[in-house]
Amino acid sequence: MQEHLIELQDIYKIYQMGEVEVRANDGISFSIDAGEMVAIVGKSGSGKSTIMNIIGALDVPTAGKYYLNGIDVGSMSDDELAEIRNKQIGFIFQQYNLLPKMNLLKNVELPLLYAGVGEAERHQRAAESLARVGLGDVLKKMPNQLSGGQQQRVSIARALVGNPSLILADEPTGALDSKTSREVLDFLKKLNAEGNTIVIITHDNSIALEAKRIIRIHDGRVVFDGAADAYRKEVIA
Ligand SMILES: Nc1ncnc2c1ncn2[C@@H]1O[C@H](COP(=O)(O)OP(=O)(O)OP(=O)(O)O)[C@@H](O)[C@H]1O
Ligand SMILES: [Mg+2]
Repeated sequence: MQEHLIELQDIYKIYQMGEVEVRANDGISFSIDAGEMVAIVGKSGSGKSTIMNIIGALDVPTAGKYYLNGIDVGSMSDDELAEIRNKQIGFIFQQYNLLPKMNLLKNVELPLLYAGVGEAERHQRAAESLARVGLGDVLKKMPNQLSGGQQQRVSIARALVGNPSLILADEPTGALDSKTSREVLDFLKKLNAEGNTIVIITHDNSIALEAKRIIRIHDGRVVFDGAADAYRKEVIA
C-alpha cells in the first residue's frame, strides 16, 4: 500500500464551552503525499488553525487518527512530538516569529541547535539556507533591519534548514503587501518544484489558487478537495 506523508482519518477537535459544544474540526479526513503543494482554505472560524496545529503536532485531536510518514502521531509521547516538530516540520507563520535579539544566522540556526547539531555544521547549514532565500550576504543583520518580505524569507530559511519532510505555512503572506506576497508565493512554488512538500493555510481564495490542490474547510468539515482548476469552476464561479 502506498504510504502517504500525511494521513488524517476522521479528525475531531471538540471544545466544551459551558453548555455549548464547539466542533472546531468535525470529522476531517484527507491525505497528502510527499511533493504536493496544497492550500487549506476557509473562512475565519472554519477550523484551519485547529487542523494546522494537529498536522504540526502542536495539538492533539479529540478523536481520529493522524499518521505522519506512516507513524501514529496520537501514540507519541510529548518528547516524541517535540522531535517531530523539530525534525519533520518547518513552520512559517504570518508574523515571522524571529527572535529580535539574534542575528539572521542565529535565528536560522535555532532548529538545528534544538536538534543537537554541532556549532560548525549549524553555521554552515544556516548560511546555506539563508543563501537559498537570497540573504546570503546579510547573515549578521538583525531582524529589525529587514523589510517584512525579507523577514519572511528568513523564516522560510529557518523552516528549510533542518530539511523537513513538510513545510507548513499559516497565512504566510498575511502581513505582506501584494508585491512582496507575490515574491514569497513564487518562492514557495519554487521550493515545491524542487521537491518540497508544502501546505499553506489561508482564508484567501486568490492565494489558495496558487497551490495545485485545494482543500476547503467549512464549519470544521472538508467541503472541497481537488485541483485548483476545479476549485475555480466549482467553488468560486
Ligand atoms: N481553545 C479553544 N477553545 C474554544 N473554542 C476554540 C478554541 N480554539 C478554536 N476554537 C473555536 O473553533 C473554531 C475554529 O477555530 P480556528 O482557530 O481553527 O479557525 P480558523 O479557521 O483558523 O479561523 P481564522 O481564519 O480566524 O484564523 C472557532 O469557532 C473557534 O472559536
Ligand atoms: Mg486561524
